[in-house]
Amino acid sequence: MNYVRNTWYVAGWAQDFAIEKPVGMTLLGEPIVIWRGADNVLTALEDRCVHRLAPLSLGRCEGAKLRCMYHGLLYERTGAVCEIPGQEQIPPHARARSYPVREKHSWVWVWMGEAAACDEALIPPAAGCDDPNYGDRTPLLVDIRGLRLRRSATWFFGSGAAKANSPRKSLRRASVRTAPVPR
Ligand code: FES
Repeated sequence: MNYVRNTWYVAGWAQDFAIEKPVGMTLLGEPIVIWRGADNVLTALEDRCVHRLAPLSLGRCEGAKLRCMYHGLLYERTGAVCEIPGQEQIPPHARARSYPVREKHSWVWVWMGEAAACDEALIPPAAGCDDPNYGDRTPLLVDIRGLRLRRSATWFFGSGAAKANSPRKSLRRASVRTAPVPR
C-alpha cells in the first residue's frame, strides 16, 4: 500500500509512553518502537534488531539507550549500535532506522518520510489536553456531540413522523429491481 510519507502521524497519547517502557506498534505498515528515556526524551526506531530481527520493543531501556534482549546489542538514540556483548568491533552499518518524533498537543507524532523534508512546523494545530485554553472550548464540543446524539436517537427510537422519513424507509423505496438476463 502507498502512504503519504512526508507528514506527521500520531503514534499515541503522550501519557501512553511511560519512562523506560518501550512501545511497539505498526505505522504505515512498518514496525516501530518508541520509548521515553530516563531523561524524558522520546526516540523512535524501526522495531527490528539488525542482528536477528528481534523486536526491540521487547528490549530494555538503559538510560537513553535501548538493549535488544535476544543477544544484547545496545542501541543509541540515533539507531546506531554502540555495544555488542563479547565483541570489540562494531560494524559501521550496524544501525536501525530512526524516525523523528515529537511530543505536541498531548500527542506523540512520528515522521516517516524523507529526513530532509521533516519540519516540526508541519504538525497540524490542535487544542491538546496541555492547552490552557482547552477548557474554554469543551462546552462547544459537548453541545455538538449532544446534538448529534439527539438526532441519531430520534432516528433510532423514532416518533411516527421520524419513522416515515427514516433513512431505512427511503432505502426500501429506492431498492433496485432486477430481472433475469436474456441468453
Ligand atoms: S536479535 Fe537483537 S541482539 Fe540478536
